[in-house]
Amino acid sequence: MKQFSKKLIAWYQQNGRSGLPWQGKRDPYAVWVSEIMLQQTQVATVLERYPRFMKRFPTVKKLATADVDEVLAEWAGLGYYSRARNLHACAGQVVEQFSGKFPSDPLLLEQLKGIGLSTAGAIAAFAFHERAPILDANVKRILARIFAVDGSLQDKAVNERLWELAEDLLPSKREDMPVYTQALMDFGATWCTSRKPVCFSGERKCPYLKECQANLSDQVLLFPQKKVKAKSPELNCDMLLMRSGNSVLLQKRASKTIWGGLWSLPESPWETRVSAIQTLEINTKDFLAAVLPNEKISTLLKSSQQLIRGEQIKHVFTHRRLWMQIWEASLSKPLEFSNTDLKWVELSQLGCYGLPQPIKVLLQQLSLVRGGGLKN
Ligand code: ADE
Repeated sequence: MKQFSKKLIAWYQQNGRSGLPWQGKRDPYAVWVSEIMLQQTQVATVLERYPRFMKRFPTVKKLATADVDEVLAEWAGLGYYSRARNLHACAGQVVEQFSGKFPSDPLLLEQLKGIGLSTAGAIAAFAFHERAPILDANVKRILARIFAVDGSLQDKAVNERLWELAEDLLPSKREDMPVYTQALMDFGATWCTSRKPVCFSGERKCPYLKECQANLSDQVLLFPQKKVKAKSPELNCDMLLMRSGNSVLLQKRASKTIWGGLWSLPESPWETRVSAIQTLEINTKDFLAAVLPNEKISTLLKSSQQLIRGEQIKHVFTHRRLWMQIWEASLSKPLEFSNTDLKWVELSQLGCYGLPQPIKVLLQQLSLVRGGGLKN
């Protein structure tokens, strides 16, 4: 479609989002950070958190030499923490493999940690004005509708067809790439939305009204075609909220798990069935032995009072739902553990640790009660 990019740019000039702090930048580091943050986080939140992140880590070198824990703590609350671990790892790659300068070729960018082909295209287009296509979920929807692309987005052939279209539709002039790329993102996010596209409003204002094949055949909501989704599995676990004075016992999560690298409460494995302790099939001793190293269990049992059943917290992930049963216990003196992944942390110091959001909220309540220092 010859006029596709011209129409889109004209649409953007009237209706697009402009003046955002990450727009109009040629610094690939600044562009990259914003693209990663915007991937799964709302613009309103990024507006608040992006300037803070850039102030804390103003260059790729500063990010690469920071401790990954500092990066995770700065990322706390934004979710999808593999993004923060990948940002740190990718910064290291850019410093080591490219002397601290991001490459402009999307195929090289895509080789870096945490950068998919669409993000590589966005960075290349925004920072280097490369004629590189993007194809995130919003763009797939726009193209699948306008060109009535048949088949599920999970199919390789469908994706290949969409990439081909995305490439063919690029503006011919490199200098149009930033505005065109931003326009595609904004059009998908605000007008060609998945459930309430603007063509449903009766205003007939969509610039592609007369070309969009899905609209012409009155099938807009049927594109892109989806596979039927199974309900996400439900998991259960028990968590130990062990307190001693103004401190709480935290455990660092293994890096390859959900919330990897963050500090959380010691916990039992996540299982699809309700846990043994919840059905009262095991006692305090077995529970402590399941969530803590064996070395001090008998001392712990002597000094800890009974377990008290605390809140049950539900957390919904993209592909699963987790029920966390909190069990509260207290010790008069904090026992030291030889594992370095277990640590007593003062409530006032919790702000220095990257915590999963539901655990942060739980401990925030404790801090408020105790006057500790965990802020949002
Ligand atoms: N999502 C990913 N990148 C974006 C951007 N540059 N603007 C708005 N939303 C986005």
